[in-house]
Amino acid sequence: MRGLLITFEGTEATGKGVQVQRLIPWLQERGYTVCSLREPGGTPTGEELRHVLKHQPNCEGMDPVTELLIMNASRAELVRKIIRPSLEHGEIVLCDRFYDSTCAYQGYGRGLDLSLVQQVVDAAVGETKPDLTFLLRIPVEVSEERRRRRNATRPFTFDRFEAAEREFFLRVQEGYDEIAAREPERFRVIDGTRTPEEVQAQIRQHLVALMDGGPPQAFKETVLAGVPITIEPLDGSILERCCMCRRPTPCWTQDQLLALCPQCAAVARPIDLPTPEQWHTRERVAMEGEQPLMSSETSGGCPKRCGSAQTSNADDQARLATTAR
Ligand code: TMP
Repeated sequence: MRGLLITFEGTEATGKGVQVQRLIPWLQERGYTVCSLREPGGTPTGEELRHVLKHQPNCEGMDPVTELLIMNASRAELVRKIIRPSLEHGEIVLCDRFYDSTCAYQGYGRGLDLSLVQQVVDAAVGETKPDLTFLLRIPVEVSEERRRRRNATRPFTFDRFEAAEREFFLRVQEGYDEIAAREPERFRVIDGTRTPEEVQAQIRQHLVALMDGGPPQAFKETVLAGVPITIEPLDGSILERCCMCRRPTPCWTQDQLLALCPQCAAVARPIDLPTPEQWHTRERVAMEGEQPLMSSETSGGCPKRCGSAQTSNADDQARLATTAR
C-alpha cells in the first residue's frame, strides 16, 4: 500500500515544526510508520545545500534563479532518496515545506516567472505530489513578533531569508493564498494564531478524515463536570484509551488533547487529569504490560464499569484494531 505525503506550509514562524513534532507520536500510536522531513534539507546533500541557502553569510547576494535551482537540487535528492522509498513502504511522510514553498517564495516573493518555477519543480518532483497540505496562516506582524522573541533567546545565526523586508513576506503570503485557492481539495488552511493545541486538534481532525477516506467532519464540543471535551462524531474508528481508566473512548478534552471517557469526565476534577506528557508515557508503558493506568480509587472515583482497565468489549477491541493499520 502506498503511504501518504503530508506537507506543511506557511511563512516564517507559523509553528509548522511544532505541529509536525506533536503529530509524530499520535500517528505512531495508531500503528503508522512516520517519516518526518524538512526542506530544504533532509538528506546529507540537502543539509549542505540548506546551509548555503540560509546561513552562509558570503552567499547573501545569491541570484533568485540560483536560489530556485539549489532549492530544487535539495528537493530532487530528498524525493529520490527518501520520499519515494518511504511512500513505497507505506509510510506517512510529514514534510515541513515542499514545492509550494518554492512557488510562494521564489515565484511570488522573489518575482521569478511562475512557469519557470513550475518547470524546475516538475523536474525535481516528477509525479511525487502531496496528498494533503496544511497551510498555517498568520499575519505578517505576528510572524515578525514571533521571530523577534525567538531570536532573543538564541545565539545570533545569520538567516538570509529572515533578513528580507516585510514586503517580501507579504508577497509570499499572497502567493500561498492564491496557490491554496487553486487547489482547495489538497489544501487545509489553518489559523496559525490559535494555540498550538487548537491547531493540532484541527490537523488531526483533517488527517482522520483523510485516512478514513471520508469527508472532514465537525467535532462536537460539550462540557461534562466542568471539563470541556470534544466528541468526535465518527463511527468509533478513532477510539482512544481514556487517560484515567483506559477504557476506549471517542472523547477527548478540548484544551489538553487528553482522551477522556464520559464516565470519568463526569467525576474527574481537572486536577486529577495527567498532563499530556504523563499520559503518553504511561500509555506506552501500560500498553506493553496491559496494566491499568489508574485504579478507580486513584482516578477520582471513576465508576466501577469504567474503572476496568482492559478493553473487555469485543467490538471495542475490533474498532481499536482498525486504527493501527
Ligand atoms: P525553515 O526551515 O526555517 O522554514 O527555513 C527554510 C527557508 O527557506 C524559509 O525561509 C523558506 C525558504 N524556502 C524557499 O524560499 N523555497 C523553498 O522551496 C523552500 C523549501 C524553502
